[in-house]
Amino acid sequence: MDWGLKNRLSRIIKPETGRTVMLAVDHGYFLGPTSGLEVPRRTIEPLLPYADSLMLTRGVLRTSVPPEADVPIVLRVSGGTSILGELSNEGITTSIKEALRLNAAAVALSVFVGSPHEKETLLSLSQLVSEAEEYGIAVLAVTAVGKDMVRDARYLSLACRIAAELGAHFVKTYYCEEFETVVNTCPVPLVIAGGKKTPEKEALELASNAVARGAVGVDMGRNIFQSEAPLAMIKAVRSIVHQGKRADEAYEFFLKEKSR
Ligand code: R5P
Repeated sequence: MDWGLKNRLSRIIKPETGRTVMLAVDHGYFLGPTSGLEVPRRTIEPLLPYADSLMLTRGVLRTSVPPEADVPIVLRVSGGTSILGELSNEGITTSIKEALRLNAAAVALSVFVGSPHEKETLLSLSQLVSEAEEYGIAVLAVTAVGKDMVRDARYLSLACRIAAELGAHFVKTYYCEEFETVVNTCPVPLVIAGGKKTPEKEALELASNAVARGAVGVDMGRNIFQSEAPLAMIKAVRSIVHQGKRADEAYEFFLKEKSR
């Protein structure tokens, strides 16, 4: 791995702890104005100081993040589908040249293993890795799950391992039972998505279980920006990921911050 790529990755996965709290706000690329992200700028601005990176599309980056912001960008470069269509039918939406122009630290693309467009999305990942590596940009593979996919260790190990084999530098996946198997069979760092909004206590337990079992952190969206107190929530997630707080301690911290 060359210096530039290592440098970009270490801006996202913090060397002090070896961990990361990525804030995912890319949902609009197929969901439109998702609840909590109707006006992205309003959601993003207060959370920015607590995000180790921001995962989003170029449209939201250009319109809703001040260029002075000192936050590494993980640019979503796959899409082309909506919640109304066949989700796996994604292509590459944004060039590496554009990613460079936007000063992205990494680019992110979804792979849909086991879905009708499995092959195209996996080949897109390979192509993206080859292009991004030319310029030292890191690639995050997102293991998307189709509507009927079971999120178990067997399936997620398959998807994560394939993504790593094709050259992804880090992988985003879901937490599951026997998550250690997914971590141990994937040779690159894993972060977990938060998934659908759940009560704050549960989302904190998810983050805690994931890092305890080997994830390098979270790439969390809805469980932060749809929280009743997004700022308190991202701080509580950070306390788990970077300070090693237990889930119950982090929940207490969340309640305290929320009442401030
Ligand atoms: C999903 O397609 C997006 O890439 C999200 O960034 C990802 O699912 C993480 O967000 P959440 O924590 O809301 O699941």
